[in-house]
Amino acid sequence: MHVRGASASLSSSVAVTLSLFSSLFARLLRLNQAPLAHANFTNMTTSSLLEEATFISKQFDVSKDQLIAISNEFIRLTDLGLKSDGMPMAMIPSFVTGVPNGTEKGTFLAVDLGGTNFRVCSIHLNGDGTFDLLQTKSVIPRSLMVGTSKELFSFLAKRVDEFIKTHLDEKFNEEGGHSDNEHIYKLGFTFSFPVNQTAINSGTLLRWTKGFDVADAVGKDVCRLLQDELDLLNLPVHVAALVNDTVGTLMSRSYSSPGEAATLVGVILGTGTNGAYAESLAAVDKLDQSVAALANKSIMVINTEWGSFDNDMKVLPTTSWDDAVDLDTPNPGYQMFEKRVSGMFLGEILRRILLELNEKGHLFSKASTPLTTAWSLDTSILSRVEADTTPDLVAVKSIVETDLGLPTTLVERQAIKVIVEGVGKRSALLAGAVVGGILVHTKACQSNPVVDIGVDGSVFEFYPGYEDLMREALKDVIGENEKKVRIVSQYLSVASSASLPADYQSRIVGRDLLKQILRNSCIGTYVELWDGLHMGFTDFLF
Ligand code: BGC
Repeated sequence: MHVRGASASLSSSVAVTLSLFSSLFARLLRLNQAPLAHANFTNMTTSSLLEEATFISKQFDVSKDQLIAISNEFIRLTDLGLKSDGMPMAMIPSFVTGVPNGTEKGTFLAVDLGGTNFRVCSIHLNGDGTFDLLQTKSVIPRSLMVGTSKELFSFLAKRVDEFIKTHLDEKFNEEGGHSDNEHIYKLGFTFSFPVNQTAINSGTLLRWTKGFDVADAVGKDVCRLLQDELDLLNLPVHVAALVNDTVGTLMSRSYSSPGEAATLVGVILGTGTNGAYAESLAAVDKLDQSVAALANKSIMVINTEWGSFDNDMKVLPTTSWDDAVDLDTPNPGYQMFEKRVSGMFLGEILRRILLELNEKGHLFSKASTPLTTAWSLDTSILSRVEADTTPDLVAVKSIVETDLGLPTTLVERQAIKVIVEGVGKRSALLAGAVVGGILVHTKACQSNPVVDIGVDGSVFEFYPGYEDLMREALKDVIGENEKKVRIVSQYLSVASSASLPADYQSRIVGRDLLKQILRNSCIGTYVELWDGLHMGFTDFLF
């Protein structure tokens, strides 16, 4: 299928990968500006520094028994969350019960608020399988992440306004500007925070995550908040669909493998972490099954919000550094799984360990501002350190020089690598354990020869060996069935769309819709697979 490239220059670049999202985010946060530490450097012997690093790293070990206990607790909380609202794991029905039919035409908009950036994108469907894509990205000012809902959503609406005027101007004028109701743009809102969704285009915010803290938005319908601000600007835009990023990932993966395997889980392992999966509608006790819109439907995609799995810390492992990181967030005691797994937190855990070693006089001959400044370490440092397999760890040397502004000895670099391995491995094992929990809960491996899982996010994409480590945990939880599991990066499948410009090697807004369009020749098979799901996105597109 031919795809025409974007028809205007794009503001994102290949350098703006998901790994950098977390870095930018962390830099913006700077929740705690610690003073420069007075390093009391004593020449630790080679073996004792390595021993200490190994001791630290071991605190991040998770045994097979722990992984099984984690998976079991995950299944228990899954069941609870499906029964009623207000449970520890939200298990949010997405109301995604449909797919487009492949004959789409026209221009529509998508926006994405997921962390540091806000993206606006338009897709013009030419009706012959080709399309034009435009995208812009704006950094959300830190003050808006913790301000009022009016300030935040007005900022978002203004970006949509600018986008329309800059990129869709010609069309906009042709269509008669703001007042022509015949040409209202339908907008899909990817909102990657926990929302209690009540329909495809409405849902109330349960709580903020990833450093956002806009208190007065909690409990409000985020589609309404955006629509009100768009209306104030008199924009011809209707917020027509609300999706979590995990739901989008699951849908887009489903389109990539129509007819081959049922896609069961969509996973995000980036700045934040979360998973969505296809649940039998009958199992979602808390949904009123008599809702007319659900008649004859058999499946509902559920957004688990697993970031908040085990906030009670019954089974999750912890260390003193995890506890300190948690206390330094706007939501201590929440998102406890996310705080051990996702990109926003791994760099900060590592920074705290290195700082502690420095303050004890065991690491680095001096301190530096990045080392002593909270949230200043890019999580990508872990991936880059892990990737260095040279005997002298030459890449680690330059990473520490660049990111921390510090010279290192070989043994210091070895110690850093040992610690990084511990922190990174724990993240992957925990992610594998909860994916395993979903597979056990759904009995997916019993009924399918292959189970397909779509994953998106910088941690999964860039951390060397992350999938292998996830698979270790999967083996512990589901045994030999692990071989049936196919884990596919959604990032790579977007990036490998040959005719898209290299700029699109960053996550794109509306990628789910893009995928749907790319795969529309296979929709028939897909629809059969997903048995009778005919609303949701279909309504959204037309
Ligand atoms: C949010 C989820 C989101 C995930 C990944 C979490 O912090 O609660 O809704 O899917 O981040 O972006």
